[in-house]
Amino acid sequence: MEPTTPTAKPAFSPAAQAEIKRLLTHYPDERKKSTLLPVLHIAQAEFGGWVSPEVQDLVAETLGLAPIEVYEVSTFYTMFNLKPVGKHVLEICRTGPCMLRGSDELTAHLERITGAKVGQTSPDGHFTLKEVECLAACGFAPVVQVREKYYESLDTEENVQAMLSELKGLVHRPILPWEGNLPNSLQNN
Ligand code: FES
Repeated sequence: MEPTTPTAKPAFSPAAQAEIKRLLTHYPDERKKSTLLPVLHIAQAEFGGWVSPEVQDLVAETLGLAPIEVYEVSTFYTMFNLKPVGKHVLEICRTGPCMLRGSDELTAHLERITGAKVGQTSPDGHFTLKEVECLAACGFAPVVQVREKYYESLDTEENVQAMLSELKGLVHRPILPWEGNLPNSLQNN
């Protein structure tokens, strides 16, 4: 049998640790679980855009929770990715108003263009396609969310191509949820 190389246990950066410490000051000790959602967001930003079981265990250990308490939250919310993702995660709204404005056709079109089915990543690693429920921008349907940005009125080829071109040219560093809350000495760690 081939020897297996042990993988390093994940660890939060000093910047992430400082932010988690700051978040914990908002709650009494017995309510550490209240920081679970923001800490999962931090973990996802820190570890390549997804939360592996090992990363979720780190979150549990950090907050003094049982791992199952983290798993049941991470598997409930669609904003947490449970497997590796591409450079950009396209969250395509599939709820009623977007459906009436062509979200099914948009999804099929994006699948054709990217070469990825919903739930998959394109062969070039640029795009992961996900379907999500209402993004609260129904007046601009159909809508796709990519991280903090909404791409709206994607019912024209022109708008779809503009979104994909912008994303392909975008080399953005992770948007760390705690940016702006840290002293300069800890930024970019
Ligand atoms: S239904 Fe798509 S944004 Fe509301």
